Amino acid sequence: MTLKNTSRVAALVAAAAAALLSASATAQATKLKVGLMLPYTGTFAALGVAIENGFRLNVAEQGGKLAGREIEFVKVDDESDPAKATDNVNKLIKRDNVDVIVGTVHSGVAMAMAKAAKDNGTMLIVPNAGADAVTGPMCANHIFRSSFSNWQPGYAMGEVVAKKGHKKVVTITWKYAAGDESVKGFREAFEKGGGQVVKELSLPFPGVEFQALLTEIASIKPDAVYTFFAGGGAVKFVKDYAAAGLKKTIPLYGAGFLTDGTLEAQGADADGLLTTLHYGDSLETPRDKAFRLEYVKAYRLQPDVYAVQGYDAAQMLAIGLKAVNGDISKKADFAAAVEKAKIDSPRGAFTLGKSHNPVQDIYLRQVVGKENKVIGVASKSLADPGRGCRM
Ligand code: BEZ
Repeated sequence: MTLKNTSRVAALVAAAAAALLSASATAQATKLKVGLMLPYTGTFAALGVAIENGFRLNVAEQGGKLAGREIEFVKVDDESDPAKATDNVNKLIKRDNVDVIVGTVHSGVAMAMAKAAKDNGTMLIVPNAGADAVTGPMCANHIFRSSFSNWQPGYAMGEVVAKKGHKKVVTITWKYAAGDESVKGFREAFEKGGGQVVKELSLPFPGVEFQALLTEIASIKPDAVYTFFAGGGAVKFVKDYAAAGLKKTIPLYGAGFLTDGTLEAQGADADGLLTTLHYGDSLETPRDKAFRLEYVKAYRLQPDVYAVQGYDAAQMLAIGLKAVNGDISKKADFAAAVEKAKIDSPRGAFTLGKSHNPVQDIYLRQVVGKENKVIGVASKSLADPGRGCRM
């Protein structure tokens, strides 16, 4: 190579480096637009608020910035309504041009969000909805979950109930993805353990007319009942189950959403209930104690599993952003960083599996007064099978 050519190459390399630096500086200088698509009305309203609180708490702990970028929030109330989900998520993507979407609670809404995120290449972090498909057939390198798959707590409880020696179980839930998949996970482990699901009962989401179904349970007289309900519906179900006189005769087990964030309203009717979940009120680790203290200081409320999932969504976003110097368009590098990270969660540190779902301990909890007291680990480092995920 001649001297002239060498210096031309050097000049080109320098120009490219300068362009890269200035792109990264531009990324750092502009605010990161975070689209929060959550329910702020309806049976899951309190869950949406807790997720946002947790997310904001983590951002505040990082000085109000993630990887040096200030945050601008754009909020949409998705009302836990799948029929409005595509329009709602497209507002965030196409009208507001958000850099990343954080949402949501309801599995049916989350599936519409995952489709839109895939179609448009938008970064998505799911801070609750357990829809198995999101980290199954719909998985993508820019879609992450900070919460759980519906299969996980259900499967863990199936093992617990089988080990207790119950043989015949009735399940009861809302008829939509989360209820169906929670029951499916339960059935898989329970039947592997020698039990039998003798009847699957359901009602449409977000209905709370439980009476006829409770009468049916009383007439079947199973050894136990497994259930998935959450939010306002869970409050009503636990109260109705006790009022029907079933609590004294047929033990009730549930995915932990049944009693998380609901105990004030459920009162003594929830006392003693056993549930499985990836968080509890009495972990007593220094990490969890610090989180709980800061949460109470900030919001004058006790945190719940939803707050933890929001908090961890912000942690995951920060990890990815740091790796790409704030430039969220570098999806492969962002994903590589989150995939190899150990996320320092109040629930206990966790990693993500190949399909971007948390690999985590599922605790066995018992309601004692106003607490979901952790009484053991139902399933250690439980990974969702990620069925159908090709990445
Ligand atoms: C869901 O729809 O995936 C869901 C809603 C509330 C709590 C847990 C899961």
